[in-house]
Amino acid sequence: MMLCRPRFSLKKMEGYSVETIPEADIIVNANETNWNLPASIVEEVQRTVSKFAFNRYPPMHGEDLSETLARDLRVGANNIILGNGSSELLEKACYAFGGMGRKIAIPYPSFSMYGEYVQLADSKALQYPLTLEGYIDANALIAFCHKHKPDLLIICNPNNPTGNFNSLQVMEQILARVECPVIMDEAYMEFAQGEFGSSNLSTLSLLGKYNNFMVFRTFSKAFGLASLRIGYGTGAPQLLEIMQKVLLPYHVNGLTLQIAQIVYANKKEFGSRIKLMQRERTKLAQACLDLGCRVFPSETNFLLVQLQGELAFALATRAIKEGFKRAASNEATAGSYVFKQLLQHKIMVRDFSNHPALPGALRITLGRPEENVQLISALTNICQEG
Ligand SMILES: Cc1ncc(COP(=O)(O)O)c(C=O)c1O
Repeated sequence: MMLCRPRFSLKKMEGYSVETIPEADIIVNANETNWNLPASIVEEVQRTVSKFAFNRYPPMHGEDLSETLARDLRVGANNIILGNGSSELLEKACYAFGGMGRKIAIPYPSFSMYGEYVQLADSKALQYPLTLEGYIDANALIAFCHKHKPDLLIICNPNNPTGNFNSLQVMEQILARVECPVIMDEAYMEFAQGEFGSSNLSTLSLLGKYNNFMVFRTFSKAFGLASLRIGYGTGAPQLLEIMQKVLLPYHVNGLTLQIAQIVYANKKEFGSRIKLMQRERTKLAQACLDLGCRVFPSETNFLLVQLQGELAFALATRAIKEGFKRAASNEATAGSYVFKQLLQHKIMVRDFSNHPALPGALRITLGRPEENVQLISALTNICQEG
């Protein structure tokens, strides 16, 4: 008989799953971009594919893309790390700075995968709470770090799933006063107000001033390359050197590296899309507020919308009358009900309604304008029916 003894930390893990229906017409549940690449970029990619040497290993550390990024970010090419999605960088950072008996501080509520990576690295997650409005309280976080002495601090700015953006001043306050290495996960920073492509709002502008942090970014969101799996990081050379030890050679595939380079070289092409998404964000937020929902302030490509108060009561009452299962609160019942109703309209959002800190919440990625119109119409029908 086989003696199967997986690592202890795997015992407690459930694995990542997202409810999905393949036949949905409007897919707004994973914070992807709902446009494919611009046609001019697709043409360049096709030319690259036709000449691509599939038989060769890629550059060991993605040197070409690293150089392109380094030039743009005004750092040395050795100060760039690449990942198979920024997910790989986050996971590997937990291996590099965590381990048995180590503590990693992560925000709550935030990106659920942080907890998984911490566990995979046999480390202990210390959840630090965000304010009820979804922001980081710098003084509280600094006190938390002084008290609990984590080996690594992860900050998600703007935060997923709430969408809140914390100012650069707040980030700087934290960097100046905590003692452990810090990861600034800026997966959604390109969607924040301000000029697209500028680092004014980002901790990228603090590189060189503080030597205790790394910034992680991704091509999956603003640059619409989720399928290719590519993210990058930069920051304090001492921390990047440690990261290089845990990143395997050839960990990012060669085609991805080349396509990411084409995309980055053409990043201006994405500016008008981002502006459009910022306008759509305001419109969708207003529509949800008009229906009586709570909407978290978002500087991302998604909105967290919470069913609350009279609206939640009315929806939960209707749901139960229709035989729907009662959840822990009216808000949670209403959220699950609206999620299922949207599925019937073939619209797929992300259901957070049973999240202990976000009862009744649904996360809605901004789709294309015509998709957003359909979504608002379906949501209005569901909320105002009966
Ligand atoms: C906050 C945050 N960080 C990191 C990631 C990982 O992105 P990727 O691995 O696609 O680069 C995500 C993806 O949803 C995210 O929401």
